[in-house]
Amino acid sequence: MVGRIAMIGRVAGRYPVLLALLAQLCAALLVGGAIILAVQFSNWRPSALAAGLVQGLLAAGFARRLGLASWWWWLNLGFVPALLLLSGAALPSWVFLVGFLLLLLGNWNSVGERVPLYLTGARSRQQLAEWLVGQAAGFRFVDLGCGPAGTLLWLARRFPQAQFVGVETAPLPFLIAWLRALAQSNCRIRYQNLWRTDLAEFDVVYCFLSPAPMAALWTKAVAQMAVGAWLVSNSFEVPGVPAEQQVELHDWRRSRLLLWRMPAVARA
Ligand SMILES: C[S@@+](CC[C@H](N)C(=O)[O-])C[C@H]1O[C@@H](n2cnc3c(N)ncnc32)[C@H](O)[C@@H]1O
Repeated sequence: MVGRIAMIGRVAGRYPVLLALLAQLCAALLVGGAIILAVQFSNWRPSALAAGLVQGLLAAGFARRLGLASWWWWLNLGFVPALLLLSGAALPSWVFLVGFLLLLLGNWNSVGERVPLYLTGARSRQQLAEWLVGQAAGFRFVDLGCGPAGTLLWLARRFPQAQFVGVETAPLPFLIAWLRALAQSNCRIRYQNLWRTDLAEFDVVYCFLSPAPMAALWTKAVAQMAVGAWLVSNSFEVPGVPAEQQVELHDWRRSRLLLWRMPAVARA
């Protein structure tokens, strides 16, 4: 039983949309139950929008309890109220086309690379920062697939002497990341495929991808990274290569930082 719950937790952690859905379902059960009780025992009838707002608040609270990143709380909060509002509005069809295009431009790498867009959580960031304190002051850091660069910029502000690079090929996250990094002198964003990034430039290579590319990424890291440099993967293992260090994050997602120093395991 415990094993099954842990497995569900791991799957949901890799696909936070499932946790968001769970939060919505729990909220719907509570709101639905309250409405049924109200209908049976009182004259009180909430409007659809009021019920939707309560549903949103509860879903956001559940999302928080389940350890989802903060932007999921806002999504959960607004999802049902937005559906209710949109269902009453006569929207032109191009709105849906624009919505589809935004999704496509944001999740460009979901299909080809099997790496969707989801973000490093606050606890992972914090642990990563604590670990980075042990590096030489001017370290060079790359985030392979930096998304909108929230984590990268957060780190760049905390380590002003270090150099940060983000590479990204999904057009929308790249554009957001590039614009956000303009004001941060020690952080640069490249529109670059991670497979074309020369890892020899960096002391710390960070990635939060998916299980799909990890074996190939390991081969690339071993071939390119300097002796003593670190590969840090958020949650995803390299098949057959145990990490030299692990930092458990104790969240619902069962996230952990996996760290390999070159060439300790790779070329021994
Ligand atoms: C799970 S998100 C992680 C975002 C960010 N690193 C973070 O931790 O918050 C993975 C990102 O990698 C990007 N990505 C996937 N394959 C890539 C590739 N071959 N080259 C560059 N970026 C890639 C995706 O577009 C996505 O934005």
